[in-house]
Formats: sequence, C-alpha cells, structure tokens
Amino acid sequence: MVHIRSAKTEDIPMLKGFIFEHGQNEWNYLPREEVLAHLSKIEIHEVQALIAEEAGTCLGFCSFNKELPEKCLRYIPTGKNKNAYLAEVVVHKSHSGKGIGSELVEAAKNVLKMQDIQALYAVRHTDNLGSAGMMRKSGFEVIAEFDDFEIRTSGSRRTSITRVELSNYEDIGVGGKLPISIAGS
Ligand SMILES: CC(C)(COP(=O)(O)OP(=O)(O)OC[C@H]1O[C@@H](n2cnc3c(N)ncnc32)[C@H](O)[C@@H]1OP(=O)(O)O)[C@@H](O)C(=O)NCCC(=O)NCCS
Repeated sequence: MVHIRSAKTEDIPMLKGFIFEHGQNEWNYLPREEVLAHLSKIEIHEVQALIAEEAGTCLGFCSFNKELPEKCLRYIPTGKNKNAYLAEVVVHKSHSGKGIGSELVEAAKNVLKMQDIQALYAVRHTDNLGSAGMMRKSGFEVIAEFDDFEIRTSGSRRTSITRVELSNYEDIGVGGKLPISIAGS
C-alpha cells in the first residue's frame, strides 16, 4: 500500500538526497542551491511537501508553495490572487509510470483546495514527456510556451507554463490504479 503524507522537518535531508538521485534528467532544471533552499523552507512552512511511501521507503514526493516564480506572474488573470505553485514532483526511478506522480499531484490539489487556493501553476521543459503526461492526467492546461535558452540546454529548449483551476475541483478522494491512503495534512 502506498501512503501519502505531509513532509515534516525531519524528512528534509532525505528529500534533498532523493531529488538529486531521482529527479535529475536532461529536461528537469534543478539549480542545486535554489532547490536545497526551497526544501529547507518546509521547516518554516513556507513550502509544503507530500511524500508517497511504502513500508517507510520514499517512492516520490511533490512540493508546492504560495509564492509564484517570476515566469508565471504575467499569466495570472487580474484579480485572481489565490494561487499556488507546484515546484517539484519526483518519483523514484524504479517506480515511474505507476501513477505515483499523478497521485501526488491529486493529493496536492486536495490540500491546496482545502487551503482556499483557486489555481495551481507549474513550469516544465516542453519536451519533458513524463511531466507532461502526469500534468495532463491531473487536469493541467498549457497556458504559455516560449523559448527559454537561459535554463534549457536540451531538445526544443522551450518552457511550458501550465495551470489547473481548483475552484471547481470537487473530488477530494484520490482514486486511480494504486492502492493508496492519505494522512491528514
Ligand atoms: C515526471 C514524473 C514525476 C512522473 O511521475 P510518474 O509517477 O512516472 O508519473 P505517472 O505514472 O503518474 O504518469 C503520468 C502519465 O504520463 C505518462 N508518462 C510517464 N512517463 C512518460 C514518458 N516518458 N513518455 C510519455 N508518457 C509518459 C504515463 O504513461 C502516464 O499516463 P497514463 O497513466 O495515461 O499512461 C517522473 O517521471 C519523474 O520523477 N521524473 C523526473 C523528475 C521530473 O522531471 N519532474 C518533473 C519536473 S516538471
């Protein structure tokens, strides 16, 4: 049984190792210092993270916060102030393609919806097919796409900005192909 729970301060060192072991690929931009600083903010609750684990072993995690990166800001419609940003989603290399990433994103949507957030934004390399598939399943729509030569070194070197509206999101159960349980956040 895969169990999804909120990350705690004591999980931070494990997450910092996990992201560089399992999250690195030619599409995923992971500037080391920024990523480490981001994960450290779990301790002060500026960043929230959910961990998918089985028998105490981390199979994946996602992290999110309510501060949006510069790149997203211009795409927020006027007057829409209750937004969050899906910063990282990483699944253990031996467990990809089993739906864990999608389940983590669904769980994050549930948590944020309960916190009165109305839209969740994410940024990815346009060619990151795993990420694209996961986001498509989770209801994200691509709202912009542009050349991003500064941070993209492979493939099309383009970035996609995506968004899912949570306002009408009623499903607070996480269904799907995994046997899964969720702890209170
Ligand atoms: C991206 C990532 C988190 C997806 O997690 P996952 O658990 O493998 O994703 P899921 O199993 O939920 O897959 C979601 C969908 O994408 C599809 N998909 C996954 N990898 C794919 C690939 N390489 N090419 C095409 N489709 C792919 C799956 O088939 C699935 O759709 P389906 O259920 O309709 O078949 C995982 O691949 C990962 O950790 N990648 C490295 C880090 C990264 O790039 N993170 C994203 C940063 S934006």
